[in-house]
Amino acid sequence: MPIHYDQQNASFHLYSQQMSYVIEVVNGYPVHAYWGKKLRQDSNLNKLAQFPQRASLDRLPQEYPQYGSGDFRSPAYQLQLADGTRITELVYKAHRIFAGKLGLEGLPAVYTEADNEATTLELELTDGYSDLTVTLSYTIFAELNVLTRSVKLTNDGGSPVRLLRALSASVDIHAAEFEVVYLSGAWTREGQIERRPIGPGGTRIESRRGASGHALNPFLALVSPNTDEDQGEVYGFSLIYSGNFVAQAEVDPFQTTRVSIGINPFDFSWIVAPGESFQTPEAVLVYASAGLGEMSRTYHRLYRTRLCRGVHRDQQRPILVNNWEATYFDFTADKIEAIAEAGAELGIELFVLDDGWFGKRNDDTTSLGDWVVDLNKLPNGLTDLAERVNKLGLKFGLWVEPEMVSPDSDLYRAHPDWCLHVPGRRRSEARTQLVLDLSRQDVREYLFEALGKIFSTVPVAYVKWDMNRNMTEIGSAALPADQQAEVNHRNMLGLYELLERLVGSFPDILFESCSSGGGRFDPGMLYYMPQTWTSDNTDAMERLKIQYGLSLIYPVSTIGAHVSASPNHQVGRLTPLTTRGDVAMSGNFGYELDLTKFTDEEKAIVKTQVSLYKEIRPLVQTGDLYRLKNPFSGNHTSWMFVSENREDALVFYFRVMAEPNPARGTLQLKGLNPDLDYAREDVTEVMGGDRLMQAGIPIPELKGDFASTWFRLKAVH
Ligand code: DGJ
Repeated sequence: MPIHYDQQNASFHLYSQQMSYVIEVVNGYPVHAYWGKKLRQDSNLNKLAQFPQRASLDRLPQEYPQYGSGDFRSPAYQLQLADGTRITELVYKAHRIFAGKLGLEGLPAVYTEADNEATTLELELTDGYSDLTVTLSYTIFAELNVLTRSVKLTNDGGSPVRLLRALSASVDIHAAEFEVVYLSGAWTREGQIERRPIGPGGTRIESRRGASGHALNPFLALVSPNTDEDQGEVYGFSLIYSGNFVAQAEVDPFQTTRVSIGINPFDFSWIVAPGESFQTPEAVLVYASAGLGEMSRTYHRLYRTRLCRGVHRDQQRPILVNNWEATYFDFTADKIEAIAEAGAELGIELFVLDDGWFGKRNDDTTSLGDWVVDLNKLPNGLTDLAERVNKLGLKFGLWVEPEMVSPDSDLYRAHPDWCLHVPGRRRSEARTQLVLDLSRQDVREYLFEALGKIFSTVPVAYVKWDMNRNMTEIGSAALPADQQAEVNHRNMLGLYELLERLVGSFPDILFESCSSGGGRFDPGMLYYMPQTWTSDNTDAMERLKIQYGLSLIYPVSTIGAHVSASPNHQVGRLTPLTTRGDVAMSGNFGYELDLTKFTDEEKAIVKTQVSLYKEIRPLVQTGDLYRLKNPFSGNHTSWMFVSENREDALVFYFRVMAEPNPARGTLQLKGLNPDLDYAREDVTEVMGGDRLMQAGIPIPELKGDFASTWFRLKAVH
């Protein structure tokens, strides 16, 4: 068993192939003793926590720290008892170790397919005064340096308990010389990598937007100052949740760093009635001893194969054309058919009909909620259009934005109380829309019926599930006054329930999540939808940063990337079609422009791109990603994909601005087998993997601004 319990010393050693995590029970408290490179079980793991017996709780490295008893750092949980008191003290009562991993009720989580893939430890803690039982769950994966954590709080007493905070994980690491790495952004600027010392007062990232949001991703990593892509220690924390989150790192006066992650306690509370439980979302902790690249590849493997689900998980994703940037709201069935026809000629596999096909939706001011085809625009209906597209040899995909309602809609006129709102207050609109209250069963039922009707009558192979605003006035007409602070989380649970029902009922549909691009690019959504529309910014140069940044955590198979028109609609930049293709082919590939307007020369380029992508798709979508040159630190970007057996590789190189008389630059490849020789398809030379990685090759010479190139390597035997 990769979890060893030492009864004499009351310690638990959780280990994978290369990582150990040790917990000791000290004075009844579960104490964090070690997390890092693997330790030998027979190496005397006694008293790793090194906690001075008489020291205060403020010095105790805890696994789930409480508030109010002498630890003045940020607590992992806090609750209020019926008598108004807010002090609790959890102590170890029992534990259970078992093979495999359990799911989390109502919440997305990583899973195992066989019990030998992982082992779980449950620590049961109790607070005698409040009759509260808290179960800390830890699952260690055998072949990945991954530990998942979540917490279940059960009220065994006779009175309700109000949770004020219930984070998913807290770890006190015995060191302080760390920097934090995380992703910031905004609409059309997602995935920007931030890195800085934690600093006095710590670093806290969070969302108060109702969803995970564009501004900050539910992820944080601690890295040693010497850490780069290929070396140095990394402790990654990612949260499988799509609502308000917090992730924070705090250095205490004794040079311990506490990292915690979970549902944002801001504007959150939850009443746990007698006999009921509260389940936190799951945090995914990754340790890497060889830099950020190794951390990313661990997250990629886990999320691609044990978070994403369904028939599409292991299937090659189709090359699509989406009509949004081609037509916006202004289209007819004939126009759509013409785009699909042009797509068929180019080898494209899926046509996606975006916003504007329902209600009276000729702009973004109306009709969300009325999921009925607009017969003025599509007089023969959706099924007819889908069949026309299918006849051309393309599958048919459809855009929906189910979580929203337009004030100008039949749904809103019939049910004005179905949106999130607070009685007597303004209902703040954004993009002229309000957010439906998915904490309500009747709202979820309506959506399931309305969407189910379309998905079962129209031959829909793909659904783009959009969500285009932050949440405001987060209140529900269906909940009593003392539960209004539960609404954000209940809304999220409602969304997850609806999605579970829909993906279960329509298992063949490939779902792609979207939130004005990457406004909800988080692991929670990936559990239901194995790919995400990464950003509304389709400019190839901007995408270098966005795709590179998001690849810190998210597998390439989840990153939607489309070739769009030049000049680009978001930034007005003119870029070569080949470069746009190379950037988009580094993700889940597609086109988002009017294909009927291509010249013959452009058509020839696109045909080459489409057939190339069909060849490289398995490598891009399931290979290991190695980042070679960072767009955040210069003019050059490069990344490569390597097959699992290291026999095949594909290298992309991009240069933003042309450089006169440039310095001699080298591209050192990664991830190859040093003992193998590789043939490059574009030149006749064969080179050793060691040479390609250690000595490198000269940076390709390119002409003009916004240039790119690529080459393939194949091992020769
Ligand atoms: C926002 C999405 O990110 C876009 O791709 C597009 O689907 C629009 N919504 C449609 O309203």
